Amino acid sequence: MRKELGIDPGASTLTVSAPHEGIVLKEPSFVAKSRADGSLLAFGAEAWSLLEKSTEQISLARPFRESLCAKNITVPLFSYLFDRSECESNRNRILIASPCGDTEASDAALIELSAQAGADECYLVYAPIAALIGEGLNFDRAKCILQIGASRSHVLVVGNGIIFYRATIRAAGEAFDAAIVSYLENHYGMKISGQAAERIKYQIGAVWTGTERLSVDVSGRHIRTGEIIKKRLWSDELLIAFETPMTELLEEVCRALNKLPSECIRDVLEDGIFLTGGGSRLRGMPQMIREITRVKVTPLQKEDAVALGLAEILKRLPTKMPMAVGNISRNCIKMYTTARHVPAE
Ligand SMILES: Nc1ncnc2c1ncn2[C@@H]1O[C@H](COP(=O)(O)OP(=O)(O)OP(=O)(O)O)[C@@H](O)[C@H]1O
Ligand SMILES: [Mg+2]
Repeated sequence: MRKELGIDPGASTLTVSAPHEGIVLKEPSFVAKSRADGSLLAFGAEAWSLLEKSTEQISLARPFRESLCAKNITVPLFSYLFDRSECESNRNRILIASPCGDTEASDAALIELSAQAGADECYLVYAPIAALIGEGLNFDRAKCILQIGASRSHVLVVGNGIIFYRATIRAAGEAFDAAIVSYLENHYGMKISGQAAERIKYQIGAVWTGTERLSVDVSGRHIRTGEIIKKRLWSDELLIAFETPMTELLEEVCRALNKLPSECIRDVLEDGIFLTGGGSRLRGMPQMIREITRVKVTPLQKEDAVALGLAEILKRLPTKMPMAVGNISRNCIKMYTTARHVPAE
C-alpha cells in the first residue's frame, strides 16, 4: 500500500494530513526513548502512559524542538506514520512543513532520513506558505505572514512569485513561558516549572496594555529555602516579563516590513500582516503588532492551517517532481498564483 502524507512536525504538536482525508493524526510531539540504546518506543499520548510505567528504563523527549533530523527518532517515527495511516494512494511520498530559516543542508538531511523511512519522494515547504494555502489564500497579491509556534517563529514575505524575506527566530510560545519562570524567580524568589508557566500564560498572559487586567494565584518553591510560597500574579506584571521575547518578535516583523519592495507595500497595507500559530493566541498579540508596525493584522482562522495546506498542496503536486527540487516553496507559490504574469525563476 502506498501513501501520501503531509507532516507538520511542531515542537509541541505533530499533525499529519492526507490529500483526501484532511487531518489524519494530531498528537503531542513527545517520544518515549529507551534509556539503554536511545531507540524510539512510543510517541504522542502513548509515550506519556509508557513513562508512567517505568521512568528507570524510559525517558521522554521532544524531538522537533531543536531539529527535525535526529536519525534514531525521525526514521522510526516516519515509518510508524506510514504504517499507521489509513490513506491510500499510488505514490509513497511525504511533504514536510519546514522552518523558514532552514538551510539546504538540513533539508537534504531530512530528505535522506525520509527515504530511509520508506518515502519514495520527500519534499519540504516553508510552514507559513503551507498555512496560507491551508487557509484558502493564494499568492496573487503580496503576503506578509508571521507564524508564532512553540519553539520557533517564522516571518515570510512573498510577492510577484518571489520570496523577498524569510526568517526563523527563537522568540515563540516557549520563550514566553521561560520569561514567566525568570520573572517569578527574579522578583519573588519563586521557582516554577515550564508547564506551570505555560498554564499561567493561558490564564492571564497578555502582551498589550489594552487587554483586560487579570490575576491568578501562583504557588512554587522558594529558590533558597525550598518551602512552598504563594503569590497573586497580575497580567500587567507579565507585560513586563514578556518584554524580551515580544521585542524580538516585533523587531523581526519590522525588519521584514522595512525590506518590503515597493510593489508589495500596497497589498500588505491593504490585507495586513497574516498572523498564525498557537503562540499568536496570546491576548493582545494582534493589537500589539498593529500598534508598533501601524499595519493591520489579519489572524488566520484555521488552527491546523499548516497541515491542511500540506494536504492541499499534495493534491496538486505533479507526479514525481525531480528529487533535486527538495524544497518546493517556490513551486507552491507558482501553483497558487493565478495572476497572468509570474516571473521565471
Ligand atoms: N490561547 C493561547 N494563549 C497563549 N499561548 C498559546 C495559546 N494557545 C497555544 N499557545 C501556545 O502556542 C504554542 C504552540 O503553538 P503551535 O501549535 O503553533 O506550535 P508547534 O507547531 O507545535 O511548534 P513549532 O511551530 O514552534 O515547531 C505553545 O507554546 C502554546 O503555549
Ligand atoms: Mg508549528
